Amino acid sequence: MATIRLGDVAPNFTAKSTEGEIDFHKWLGDSWGVLFSHPADYTPVCTTELGTVAKYKAEFDKRNVKVVALSVDGIESHNGWINDINETQGTTVNFPILADEDRKVSVLYDMIHPNADSQLTVRSVFVIAPDKTVKLIITYPASTGRNFDELLRVIDSLQLTAYHKVATPANWNNGDDCVVVPAVATEDIPNYFPKGFKEIKPYLRITPQPNLN
Ligand code: BEZ
Repeated sequence: MATIRLGDVAPNFTAKSTEGEIDFHKWLGDSWGVLFSHPADYTPVCTTELGTVAKYKAEFDKRNVKVVALSVDGIESHNGWINDINETQGTTVNFPILADEDRKVSVLYDMIHPNADSQLTVRSVFVIAPDKTVKLIITYPASTGRNFDELLRVIDSLQLTAYHKVATPANWNNGDDCVVVPAVATEDIPNYFPKGFKEIKPYLRITPQPNLN
């Protein structure tokens, strides 16, 4: 297992899933991707998480993001559990769940943290850009369900900052003002940001979000 860091190419793999065999890079195609692990099937927090992700499909689609979940249980278990998720969460699971029984993908992505649990994956999240590089890594313990609004918020920031010379300040949400990256000289800002800017300090320049009308 190699350490995966931001900017690295997300390791490719082939694995069984509830939607057939997946070659990860081929499956991603030109989309952004979210790969997220959960500790086990038929567990309460995971049930709410997967139901929530299913309900957010339109939000992921809008951002050109494909989502794939992982647990170390098998396909038969996943399929039975999907019925429970659909029933209890009032949704239809609409993304694949990898069946990582041999822990190949979990080990490749360092999703098993032995001092937390020697067998089960923690709640890892990887966001992957269309060039297959890793843009975000977050790790939560089994006891804390993820905030998928926060995940969408971060994806908005990643997608914005990938294409514009801005960064997003603390607690930024889509639509809020952004900061101009330090690499842009103040005299060049009008060329890049015709909506204007405010210089609070020479290193702190604020501009309206550039990709909004
Ligand atoms: C859960 O998904 O509910 C869960 C899984 C493992 C440990 C604790 C909670």
